[in-house]
Amino acid sequence: MTRIIAVAMQKGGTGKTTCSVNVAAGLARGVAPDVLGPQRVLLVDVDPQANATAVFLSPQFTLGPADGVATTHEVLVNQTPAREAIKTITLPANERAGYAAATLDLLPSHIRLARAELDLLGVIRREDRLASALKRVAKDYDFIIIDCPPSLGILTLNALIAAGEIIIPVEPGYFPLIGIGLLQRTINDVAQINDLQLLGVIPTLQDRTVESRETLEGLRQMFGDKVFPAIPSRIAVRNAHAAQTDIFAFATDAATRDAAEAFAGVVKEVARG
Ligand SMILES: Nc1ncnc2c1ncn2[C@@H]1O[C@H](COP(=O)(O)OP(=O)(O)O)[C@@H](O)[C@H]1O
Ligand SMILES: [Mg+2]
Repeated sequence: MTRIIAVAMQKGGTGKTTCSVNVAAGLARGVAPDVLGPQRVLLVDVDPQANATAVFLSPQFTLGPADGVATTHEVLVNQTPAREAIKTITLPANERAGYAAATLDLLPSHIRLARAELDLLGVIRREDRLASALKRVAKDYDFIIIDCPPSLGILTLNALIAAGEIIIPVEPGYFPLIGIGLLQRTINDVAQINDLQLLGVIPTLQDRTVESRETLEGLRQMFGDKVFPAIPSRIAVRNAHAAQTDIFAFATDAATRDAAEAFAGVVKEVARG
């Protein structure tokens, strides 16, 4: 059975894209071999900001005219088969750190997806479009990871309805903890329609501040053992994005490896299910 996992949180900048990219890449590479070997993974970008697409294709792709190139927009709005839009990405080996090469499939996004809310207005069962599209390709994958936009609109709703599980990345601070309440209500609403389970919460952008520690404690009180390993705030994580790759390709020395190891820890939890 394919596991479909939405990475969602309606607030921006909580690490959704970073977690989607690195968890998808980590599963594809098999970075937690004691639990699970290399997996067939599809990363789905349903954010009009298309940051995950910019990492693995190019920023130009996400903004350019891309005429005739199918993206999530065409899949959702025109019901173009997902297969026509999917691109295969090569993840280079990082022999020094012991991470194997792999390939990862990507269903890319484009800035024009920002119109989806309007373009789908009046469409019956518009919230089911992603679920039906993914059903047709699911047999080709062990995992489908969906990177959601920072809102609870029609795109996130499509992702939650397509998914069986959800991961919530949370950055340090008081506001994110408020945001979780609203997201939990949405999860409960969607769980009435399909079988959506909370897989885990990822504390992201963790540093040595009191705020980070308090957020972590707050999350542990709210979610207990569903709190996944914390991801440290590291410049290497940003640099990997800028170098258009995942953290596993980028981790070369002690200063960059701990972020990769933290993501490998998350991949292990995801693999355990
Ligand atoms: N662990 C981290 N260390 C350093 N920077 C990070 C880390 N995680 C995310 N970032 C940066 O924080 C910003 C927001 O992260 P992003 O994953 O894009 O969040 P979202 O998708 O929720 O908006 C990005 O610039 C990203 O590069
Ligand atoms: Mg994002």
